[in-house]
Amino acid sequence: MTFPPESATVTKSSAPIGIFDSGVGGLTVLRELTRQLPQESILYVGDTARLPYGDRSPEEIRQFGHEIMTWMMTQNVKMVMMACNTSSALALEQVQQAFPIPILGLICPGARAAVKAGRRIGVIATPATAASDAYRQAILEADAEAQVWQMGCPQFVPLIEQGRLQDPATLAVAKTYLQPLLEANIDTLVHGCTHYPHLQPVFQTFLPDTIKRIDPAYFMVKAAVQELELLNLKSTRPARPTQFFVSGCPEQFANLAARWLKTTPRVNPVNFDACVTAQKSQRL
Ligand code: DGL
Repeated sequence: MTFPPESATVTKSSAPIGIFDSGVGGLTVLRELTRQLPQESILYVGDTARLPYGDRSPEEIRQFGHEIMTWMMTQNVKMVMMACNTSSALALEQVQQAFPIPILGLICPGARAAVKAGRRIGVIATPATAASDAYRQAILEADAEAQVWQMGCPQFVPLIEQGRLQDPATLAVAKTYLQPLLEANIDTLVHGCTHYPHLQPVFQTFLPDTIKRIDPAYFMVKAAVQELELLNLKSTRPARPTQFFVSGCPEQFANLAARWLKTTPRVNPVNFDACVTAQKSQRL
């Protein structure tokens, strides 16, 4: 497969940065991106029809990543930030090899930041990310002496996507997931899913201040700044309004996203299957 098609425009510094996640988790990356790179225009994709990714098989997660990247290329983005740890853990290398634009993931930036913060590292993540062992491997690569406890948290994403942030059920499951990590006496906790910073008040209830919390989004965006500088792709013009696309219900996403964006976004529907089919028939 060759991208971009010959007729496509040459990558420009004013082109948007693509961000994708299964749902509202990527908004925590978007927030960080607009903080560190306010001049960049953003195209946000939420694959809400197929969430949670954390319960999916590695094959499905790779297939979704490929489909979303195929669509991203039709939008002429200059860089893509995989604002999803599950995709970063299971699909990053594959899409990096298949598509000729910079694609950034969360695992390495998060792991490197964690070993700078402590030696007894807890990682909370989706079941698929925890099962992939990607964080443990990346942490041990950065510091072979570190100790890692990974905890799959299947109920967090569905609760967050339902907007049940302060619900008693959310507090109860948070306690179940965090207790073993507290008993292991961790000194650092990695938010290994981009949805989890939305639960900040819940974590504050259970975690002592002595445990350093790592949000890989901050470090991923720092890596993006360096990459854009290196490639001379930093935008020199003011950002255009962020464009939002979801594969599920646009209204539902808009209502949920409004909580964090402080304004209700205009959200467009997107069909990745149709895009992939169109790309295939063009090549026949
Ligand atoms: N926010 C994503 C992550 O960082 C995916 C969550 C999900 O859909 O399970 O892993």
